[in-house]
Amino acid sequence: MSNFWQDLPQPFFILAPMEAVTDVVFRHVVKQAGAPDIFFSEFTNATGWVHAGEKAIGGRLIKTDDEQPIVAQIWGGEPGDMEQLAKHCKHLGYRGIDINMGCPAKSAIKSGGSALIRNPQLAAEAIRAAKTAGLPVSVKTRLGYTYIDEWHDWLAHLLRQDIVNLTIHLRTKKEMSKVPAHHELIDEIVRLRDEIAPQTLLTINGDIETRAHGLRLIAEHPGVNGVMIGRGVFHNPFCFSGSGEQEVGEQTHKQALLDLLYYHLNLFDHYQEQLHRPFETLKRFFKIYIRDFEGASDLRAALMLTHSTNEVRELLANHKQSITF
Ligand SMILES: Cc1cc2nc3c(=O)[nH]c(=O)nc-3n(C[C@H](O)[C@H](O)[C@H](O)COP(=O)(O)O)c2cc1C
Repeated sequence: MSNFWQDLPQPFFILAPMEAVTDVVFRHVVKQAGAPDIFFSEFTNATGWVHAGEKAIGGRLIKTDDEQPIVAQIWGGEPGDMEQLAKHCKHLGYRGIDINMGCPAKSAIKSGGSALIRNPQLAAEAIRAAKTAGLPVSVKTRLGYTYIDEWHDWLAHLLRQDIVNLTIHLRTKKEMSKVPAHHELIDEIVRLRDEIAPQTLLTINGDIETRAHGLRLIAEHPGVNGVMIGRGVFHNPFCFSGSGEQEVGEQTHKQALLDLLYYHLNLFDHYQEQLHRPFETLKRFFKIYIRDFEGASDLRAALMLTHSTNEVRELLANHKQSITF
């Protein structure tokens, strides 16, 4: 079995899976700004796909050959369905399967997501089922469901399943994203991994903003192999590049953000035929690009009233002076 995880630089950096965010369009935007070492798809429900096919998943698995390596994140509570979807992802050219065992959303925990933390046997079956596709299987999870001290038994159980990588969002399901991630547990988790499954890579996630921040954490906590960044891309789309925290001139930075917004608009139009995503879904991204200059919030408010990518372009052209000077 070809296993790209073994050939990665260490430490490696992963763009976190984010539903309705990290689709083929936004992944390309991040790649343009500064590519991570691994891309993840948005999570895709196995049972939905098995029963309703492509219609149920709305383009979540669309990808292009230049996004490498790319892992399909799947979720669910029916191992048979997960096996089928994992095989389909292999057919689509994905290089790995990641199983989501951390999503706290009500719709997810009916059958999968963080509900698997409370059903370790099902979690093990899901991993076994996904492995039959012949791709390397990893897991992304949280520390526990309700209590922080669940982490030891839950992560030990996952580490016994011989997975290639374990990504831990360092919070419990109950904590959602409301408290700071528990970076203080990293060293103990590394020790547990070393004891049970030294061959399994360990990736940390939660409140890590940039590549430089990730490198600092890894220096403080030797043994961690990878860093996953999610919301950091909203604050700084260049967060994976070496220049994530580098002082570039203010004008250069503003121009780079504007260029990236135009790139995003063009990609949105390009993939529209395949994705059929309403124009409204684009609006959540404007705050990434239009910020930190006088008049930015007024311009953002005006952008929220637009109805098409061309209207956005027109508005930007009219405000070019204020954005770049
Ligand atoms: C809008 C949004 C959508 C998300 N969707 C997913 C998802 O599909 N699969 C998943 O495993 N985690 C998902 N997450 C969680 C992130 O992958 C990540 O674990 C979390 O945001 C903490 O990392 P961060 O502090 O770097 O953002 C999502 C988070 C956000 C903000």
